[in-house]
Amino acid sequence: METVSKVEQNFRLTRTHLCGTLVEANVNQEVVLAGWVDTRRDLGGIVFLELRDHKGQIQLVADPDKNPDVHRIFQQVRAEYVIAIKGVVSVRPDGSENTSLKSGAIEIYPSEVEILNESKVLPFPLDKVEEVNEDLRLRYRYLELRQEHKRKHLENRHKVVHAVRNYLSDEGFLEIETPILSKSTPEGARDYLVPSRVHPNNFYALPQSPQIYKQLLMMSGVNRYYQIARCFRDEDLRADRQPEFTQVDIEMSFINQEHVITVTEGLIKKAFAAVGVEVETPFPRIEYDDAINRFGSDAPDLRFGMELIDFTEFMSKSEFQAFASVANSGGLVKAINYKGGAKLSRKDFDDLKDFVTTKEMGAKGLAWIAFKDIGEGKFEISSPIAKFFTEEQMQELQAKAEIEPGDALLFVADKAKIVHYVLAKLRIFLAKKDGLIDPKDRKLVWVVNFPMFEYDERYNRYKANHHPFTLPHNQDVDKLETDPAAVKTYAYDIVFNGIELGGGSIRVHNKKVQEKIFKALNIDDETAQERFGFLLEALELGAPPHGGIALGLDRFIMLLSNTDSIRDVIAFPKNQSAFCQLTSAPSSVDQEQLDELYLSLVEPE
Ligand code: AMO
Ligand code: AMP
Repeated sequence: METVSKVEQNFRLTRTHLCGTLVEANVNQEVVLAGWVDTRRDLGGIVFLELRDHKGQIQLVADPDKNPDVHRIFQQVRAEYVIAIKGVVSVRPDGSENTSLKSGAIEIYPSEVEILNESKVLPFPLDKVEEVNEDLRLRYRYLELRQEHKRKHLENRHKVVHAVRNYLSDEGFLEIETPILSKSTPEGARDYLVPSRVHPNNFYALPQSPQIYKQLLMMSGVNRYYQIARCFRDEDLRADRQPEFTQVDIEMSFINQEHVITVTEGLIKKAFAAVGVEVETPFPRIEYDDAINRFGSDAPDLRFGMELIDFTEFMSKSEFQAFASVANSGGLVKAINYKGGAKLSRKDFDDLKDFVTTKEMGAKGLAWIAFKDIGEGKFEISSPIAKFFTEEQMQELQAKAEIEPGDALLFVADKAKIVHYVLAKLRIFLAKKDGLIDPKDRKLVWVVNFPMFEYDERYNRYKANHHPFTLPHNQDVDKLETDPAAVKTYAYDIVFNGIELGGGSIRVHNKKVQEKIFKALNIDDETAQERFGFLLEALELGAPPHGGIALGLDRFIMLLSNTDSIRDVIAFPKNQSAFCQLTSAPSSVDQEQLDELYLSLVEPE
């Protein structure tokens, strides 16, 4: 129940009810309402107003014969004026009901009106907000949010956070805040830096995550920690990334991977239930290697099939030199069976080829074989590469891909990384294009056994796949020195409809293992001391086994709300270039501020 306090105030009418909650049961009651003028229709005598508050709308009517004072004010008000009214709720005359409104059977002839504030004409009409470009919408985000369906995301967010807090508290987790002015944390993105006035030429870093602090809390004897944690990462933005975002951040002691997975499944179930969605636990699991081999991605979308088929060995023996040479030099040749694809024209295949050979995608080509349906379960082959295969090879190929009439195979040959990247994107592109994805479907999956390292070709060295505090499988610890690429870890991601919702790991709690990892990452002793000395020290002062996870709250709400932009679920988001249209941040600062911080500016080239 929302209550309204009776205190001294600078307006006359004090609200007693909410527009959107009035129903026929309120008929004959005198009420005071307050809100925004949504629409106004002047029928040359009678004036109708739709009054709107956070709960909904109600129709107000002013009749010059019944109440000339109210009518005069109603003629004067415009859209988005803020007003309060007093009046008795009445039934609408027969035939004038509006079934699309909850309050569509009732209306009010106000006896009093008070204009609380006027409004200029808005920069865009609220019901046309979808047609306005995003920067303008973000500039006037508070106007956009006057629409109930836009505010709904914030309400969902509140409900989910509330459920998360209740659940974790019941499970014995303590909510603990960690510093925002902190030291750089190694999550792999660029840091946002804050210059220190008191320590000239030194900088705090805004946390990319509370990773190190939450590990230190485990060493403090806090058994279970959580935080609804704001994180900051200066990275290239996408539809599902913001420079500042929120994690549901969790850490637990004396546990293994199963404990973290079970607690997280319970949490996700409760969070979904908070917005009326049921999910079944436990969620299925897939090995990292399988996810890559079958779907080309460590965040596979399981709402449809079209799995990748490996033709590397097959092509290594073929006459098609472009593919044979890739297959025989450590690369991969993989294909997807595009159901119904045989009806594509040459031009369509060319378009698909253009899609995969952009600079961003990086494929060198797209080879195809179409099995055109000619009835009676038969097909006719058309393809620029079919001529390279013998009759027998063709049969083998069809059997391997389980070809049916109407199918088309789409091949990419390249280094493994490119083949997987490209086919994963192509798979999703085709599924979306052909409407293979049921928008109501929700597929959650754990991806487990991530490799410790990923080879960074730009710098010719290994980098941590998750982060350097991730625990390798016991049997792989020795490989840290001999075969880093083969080291698997207790790291896990939870993936929702092809988007990484969260990730975590069991951590290293043994200093020797931690040092081996730093070594494999080419971090020398001195650098390790300088950056993580405090953690290494803590590992020697009684560190319990521990691990945890962080879920991206914004992504979570975005996926639950069926919107494809993370900006919809954040009250005041930044745009795609990390700029706040509303406040114009970042902005320049006074020379005096710079001087205090011992900073001088260099003009960009
Ligand atoms: P990770 O880096 O995987 O793990 O982040 C966890 C989750 O945070 C979300 N996320 C983002 N959401 C919006 N915008 C961004 N720029 C962004 N970056 C990440 C994702 C992601 O899955 N410390 C570890 C967790 C751990 O090991 O416990 C960490 O931060 O949903
Ligand atoms: P070519 O013999 O180079 O004309 O190639 C024949 C077909 O194979 C064309 O459709 C190319 O797009 C395709 N192709 C060539 N190289 C690759 C590759 N690395 N991956 C996928 N398709 C390729």
